[in-house]
Amino acid sequence: MTRIVEAELLDELPVDDPRAIHSRRDLRRINALMGNARIMARILKTFHDSRSLKTVVEIGAGDGSFALRLAEGLAPSEHRVEVLLVDRQNLLSYQTAARFQKLGWNAQPIQMDVFDWLAQSSNSKFDLIVANLFLHHFEEARLRSLLEQASKRTLLFLACEPPRSVGALIVTRVLGLIGCNSVTRHDAVISVRAGFRDQELSSLWPKAESWQLLERPVGLFSHCFCARRAVAAAQTSCLR
Ligand SMILES: C[S@@+](CC[C@H](N)C(=O)[O-])C[C@H]1O[C@@H](n2cnc3c(N)ncnc32)[C@H](O)[C@@H]1O
Repeated sequence: MTRIVEAELLDELPVDDPRAIHSRRDLRRINALMGNARIMARILKTFHDSRSLKTVVEIGAGDGSFALRLAEGLAPSEHRVEVLLVDRQNLLSYQTAARFQKLGWNAQPIQMDVFDWLAQSSNSKFDLIVANLFLHHFEEARLRSLLEQASKRTLLFLACEPPRSVGALIVTRVLGLIGCNSVTRHDAVISVRAGFRDQELSSLWPKAESWQLLERPVGLFSHCFCARRAVAAAQTSCLR
């Protein structure tokens, strides 16, 4: 399957459009079924001293519910964690922010285009940047630029994306059976066609510095990518 990137309906609907609200609810259920937060928490615990995290960013964070599940999967943390939720839309609810607080995570929504945020945060460094169902929005050249800029701001980068596979495409055809609306069904097909396989994300990650990369399908519906700076790799025990 050739990779094809097309616009998704959810990105174009107004935040309070009932179809968008329904579709974001579908997304939370799809995320739960895919288990991406669980997968990421497991990778983090394997690759990194996850209890020592202090600064986390999710790019394309939506309503923050994915980052919240990740925080729950990593709890308890040794420190108070600052988590920046970067998204073009500000969707973080009071309830979700309060659930972060209970875990000792302070969630800050940043309503910006990811490229504007990357440009503005050029002097910042974070322990971890994550992306869930987000990287597939971008064509190769923009994605290469996004990954290059992200690599300068973090020790560890994790992404879970749709696998570009016939199996995943078949699953998108039955999402109506679990109550997903037409926006979700449309976007799911677009997302799989724009998804990833093999070492596609690794090949776009910058080569200049020494990074430890891992990229592979996980379960039936996730394609995961992990980049860890060699310094961080040397400080903590390696792939267990
Ligand atoms: C499929 S949703 C995933 C949301 C979240 N990561 C999750 O798993 O629930 C993609 C999100 O990316 C955001 N987005 C799309 N293009 C963006 C951009 N250029 N900069 C920032 N956010 C963007 C959309 O607003 C949307 O919330």
